[in-house]
Amino acid sequence: MPASRIFAEHGDITRAVVDVIVNAANSSLLGGGGVDGAIHRAAGPGLLAECRTVGGCPPGEARVTGAYNLPHRHVIHTVGPIWYGGGLDEAELLASCYRNSLKLAVASGARSVAFPGISTGAYGYPIPAATDIAVRAVREFLRETGAEIDVMFCCFSAEALGLYQSALMD
Ligand code: APR
Repeated sequence: MPASRIFAEHGDITRAVVDVIVNAANSSLLGGGGVDGAIHRAAGPGLLAECRTVGGCPPGEARVTGAYNLPHRHVIHTVGPIWYGGGLDEAELLASCYRNSLKLAVASGARSVAFPGISTGAYGYPIPAATDIAVRAVREFLRETGAEIDVMFCCFSAEALGLYQSALMD
């Protein structure tokens, strides 16, 4: 059974060479800035039209849609926690974003998935802590489920890439 690869790359997630990409959305699922904006721009209006039918998504959960003009099979939208200092269960909510997104990616038949740094932009989650949570959650999911899916952490900055690369060496 081929082992699943977990790796980090520097780049734009809309161009990631994977089956499925994950969007860092807000609970309305009606688009926004950052990676949400980039994904909607690249996917075109069909993505928003489908998102309107989904009815939103609570923080920590994930929803799957088509990918439209993107070169991917699906987009998985997950809503990360807004960082309020760490006392409001942000870490557990962030970990559940990765777990729930992976569950949907595996269920969709994807063999590879790319994640942006959920909550590390507008939602203010400190990048080092978020990186450790992301790597731990993905490793635990793959170990517990035995799922065969490659996982890319798509980093938009060299800082994030460096943090993922050192976290992946532990
Ligand atoms: N490809 C990969 N990563 C990207 C891209 C891109 N094209 N654009 C931005 N990023 C990175 C940012 O650098 C950041 O590290 O994605 C990470 C997440 O940042 P945000 O997009 O701001 O997402 P988040 O912090 O989860 O905030 C979500 O912002 O865009 C709105 O609608 C969204 O309200 C929601 C909130």
